[in-house]
Amino acid sequence: MPNRRNFFRLGAVGLVNLFALALAVPGLKYLLDPLGKRSGSGDFRKLARLGQLKIGEPQAFAILAERRDAWVKYPTEPVGSVWLVRQPEGSPEPVLAFTAECPHLGCPVNLAPDRKTFLCPCHQAAFGFDGKKLNDVPPRGMDRLPVELSTEADPEVAVKFERFQPQTAEKKPLA
Ligand code: FES
Repeated sequence: MPNRRNFFRLGAVGLVNLFALALAVPGLKYLLDPLGKRSGSGDFRKLARLGQLKIGEPQAFAILAERRDAWVKYPTEPVGSVWLVRQPEGSPEPVLAFTAECPHLGCPVNLAPDRKTFLCPCHQAAFGFDGKKLNDVPPRGMDRLPVELSTEADPEVAVKFERFQPQTAEKKPLA
């Protein structure tokens, strides 16, 4: 019965291959994007109401995300933070949003002690509240993020969180 034996052998090989494929697909997905939304272009996230933001006073907001790898879903954790700067009434863009990741080497940018500029504590990169760089430490200004406002009387401010490559003069999304 060689044909029958071959038939069972091929069937068994096919089943093993199917099983291996089922195991490999989530693993490959994890290898391609281990942190999920951390590396790719994320969705808009609601961070605040416009009325919560004071004009000209930057406020920081943590970006929380659920991390999952091939088989495990981890609890929600901070994956970055964003500075929101409300603009004066009548400005074409009511709110500017910047990722807090320094374009020099990625440290979190903070407020300077006098609270009049942004300052990165790692190597002293300085930025204005418009995101423009104020010294030659960083290769570019702070990275702006897209902002959406809802249509309510006190609109919700939503930001699309993205990450960018450090150490380049041009703003390039992380692959
Ligand atoms: S990482 Fe910000 S100044 Fe170097």
